[in-house]
Amino acid sequence: MLGLFRPVASPAACEFGLADGSCALLRRLRADDAERLRTGYILLSEESRRLRFFDQASEPRLGFLDQLDAKDHVAWGALDAMAPDGVFMGIARYVRSAPETDAAEVAITVLDPWQSRGVGILLHACLHRCAASNQVCRFLYDVSEDNPRFLRHLRELGAVRCKTESHVVRLEMPVYGRACRVPRSTAAGRRFYAVMRALERAKPLAA
Ligand SMILES: CC(C)(COP(=O)(O)OP(=O)(O)OC[C@H]1O[C@@H](n2cnc3c(N)ncnc32)[C@H](O)[C@@H]1OP(=O)(O)O)[C@@H](O)C(=O)NCCC(=O)NCCS
Repeated sequence: MLGLFRPVASPAACEFGLADGSCALLRRLRADDAERLRTGYILLSEESRRLRFFDQASEPRLGFLDQLDAKDHVAWGALDAMAPDGVFMGIARYVRSAPETDAAEVAITVLDPWQSRGVGILLHACLHRCAASNQVCRFLYDVSEDNPRFLRHLRELGAVRCKTESHVVRLEMPVYGRACRVPRSTAAGRRFYAVMRALERAKPLAA
């Protein structure tokens, strides 16, 4: 019985087919991704920047790349498998909130042309799998009050609101290490479950 809920090992790089026929190449971010991220930031619309960073900084904050440790600070990116040398379609990361805590803060960004095509949910599922294998049990999300679509999506996945400050809503969600733990009573939950399940079955790519 216990084995049913044991988190699976953190996934290796893999390819994942999107519903529109595109293929995403998923892999962890590396220190040498700085230039790709800089280019991606320039391509991000003002509205997406505002919703993600709550400001309009002209330069991306890339210091986090040197702090990735595959455990407390983890970032994944999705590349277009047809253009693997190009910019990331999207990236997602979590950072443990404090040493020894089981909570981590999550942020997801998808480039505008790739939004609403399943990239965000895919990266989000990657984070859930990774976090569970690193003893992170709770995810925290800071989402702008005027991002109702994403707020609803997170609530449908089981997130609950903790507080709202300066028009930013903080939500908390359990980390679903395996597909079988994802609540499936909503359309978003069933979609997330299907992605987690597919990731569990994805063939790892050679590093
Ligand atoms: C929000 C975001 C990460 C979602 O990623 P995505 O790849 O566009 O989304 P997916 O296609 O995987 O769909 C997942 C859910 O994201 C939400 N979503 C999709 N496109 C969105 C958009 N343009 N704006 C806001 N939310 C969006 C939807 O709720 C969707 O679920 P639904 O179709 O059941 O309603 C992405 O649109 C984005 O980067 N937006 C700008 C930055 C931002 O808002 N980040 C969130 C704060 S951490």
